[in-house]
Amino acid sequence: MKKYVLSAAMLVVSCYGFAQNAAKGKGVYDKVCVACHQPTGQGIPSAFPPLAKSDYLNANPDRAIGAVLHGLSGEITVNGKKFNNVMTSQNLTDEQVADVMTYIYNSWGNNKTVITPAKVKAVRAKPAPKVAQEH
Ligand code: HEC
Repeated sequence: MKKYVLSAAMLVVSCYGFAQNAAKGKGVYDKVCVACHQPTGQGIPSAFPPLAKSDYLNANPDRAIGAVLHGLSGEITVNGKKFNNVMTSQNLTDEQVADVMTYIYNSWGNNKTVITPAKVKAVRAKPAPKVAQEH
């Protein structure tokens, strides 16, 4: 019995910690990303790609984190539609990037990946992809 109580308590703690993360991430999203990617992550056709059910996002978390850290430009295909625009790098802490990416991955039909600040730090330490270095 004691065991069950303990694991139930641990479950509550871990869910609570995670909820905090995503809630803070929503705050970052609504301030920083919403103007382009829109409140429900739909984006704007031909200008800003969707984050909702985005195959580009779900396929590769490192690449998605890299877009936020280093910016992204050049042609990309998201859910079968081409975009060729520029996203500037976003000036956020590892923690803020982890929160906002966790929020996005756990919203709008995405694959529920949890992004930790350590993961963001690791991507930041890698050199920026070539296209993003031009600006
Ligand atoms: C000024 C507009 C703008 C802002 C602000 C912006 N983005 Fe973007 N974002 C873009 C554009 C434009 C692209 C596509 C770039 C290209 O065509 O190569 C993009 C691409 C992406 C992609 C990869 C493609 C996809 O749809 O999955 C991700 C992930 C992303 N943005 C996340 C974010 C997050 C998270 C924020 C906030 C921290 C943010 N963006 C803020 C314009 C913006």
